[in-house]
Amino acid sequence: MKKDILTLIDLTREDFEVLFERATELKKRYKKGIADKPLAGKTLGLIFDKPSTRTRLSFEAAMVQLGGTPIFISAKDTQIARNEPVRDTARVLSRYLDGLAIRTYSQNLLEEFAEFTDIPVINALTDLFHPCQVLSDIMTVIEIKGGYKDIRIAWVGDGNNVAHSWVNAAAVLDLDLVLACPDGYSPRKDVMEKALEKGVGKIVATSNPVEAVKDADVIYTDVWASMGQESEQGKRKRVFEPFQVDQALLKHASEDVIVMHCLPAHRGEEISENVLEGPKSVVWDQAENKLHMHKAILDVLFLH
Ligand code: CP
Ligand code: NVA
Repeated sequence: MKKDILTLIDLTREDFEVLFERATELKKRYKKGIADKPLAGKTLGLIFDKPSTRTRLSFEAAMVQLGGTPIFISAKDTQIARNEPVRDTARVLSRYLDGLAIRTYSQNLLEEFAEFTDIPVINALTDLFHPCQVLSDIMTVIEIKGGYKDIRIAWVGDGNNVAHSWVNAAAVLDLDLVLACPDGYSPRKDVMEKALEKGVGKIVATSNPVEAVKDADVIYTDVWASMGQESEQGKRKRVFEPFQVDQALLKHASEDVIVMHCLPAHRGEEISENVLEGPKSVVWDQAENKLHMHKAILDVLFLH
């Protein structure tokens, strides 16, 4: 049966471990200049309804470096924009390609694509989840902290798509995750409930950022207004002001805390300039690991 990556809650702990291991191996080999080409002859289609720098480019580079071919599909230039049913597009693309990475608004649309194709479908971000981001982020945590067990992760900011994927990962990997979000901006109830039903993971929600970062090993933040929420930007700036990750907040965390952000960052909003550019920030390592993790995802989904 084909395997997709639509949400992290669908993965097993073993799936995570396989991906971390393969990504680490591929990264090591790439750094040594070894040119692995396991995906020779394979083609990945990328359908993007929203802008992207890192996810698109790292998937494209991953395909090229592993010997395969990426084909970028701008949704607005296809018949999708003229309302051809998703299920028809999905069945046709299935006959041309070996896999699809999709960035779009609706998780349901992504799931419909997955249902009507017999090739792996990868969630490259929806309004609800950003699973590949969190896979590469945990790889970064493992590299820097030596593992994820007993690591306290504090999410500070909007309970958005990236936060939801952290909640899912916490449920599968038994992570210690605390999320500090303003009232009304917490992670979605259904996402939290599904994660808590799994019974593992110490997932706690609060509206107090100082309390959340207490003894945290990792502080993670993301934009206050995600793609598609541009009209709420002004209101959100006011509501989220006390949730900025700045030097004052860092004082409450562990001494060796690391600060993560999936990027793009808005300096002076969710993160201060001196924290983003400061010694605790690992954002460039995070961005790099998207390349290595995406290679592992493609390798595992296409070949195993
Ligand atoms: N972090 C991330 O997904 O960045 P892009 O929007 O540039 O892909
Ligand atoms: N939450 C952000 C993530 C961007 C990578 C957004 O959806 O815009």
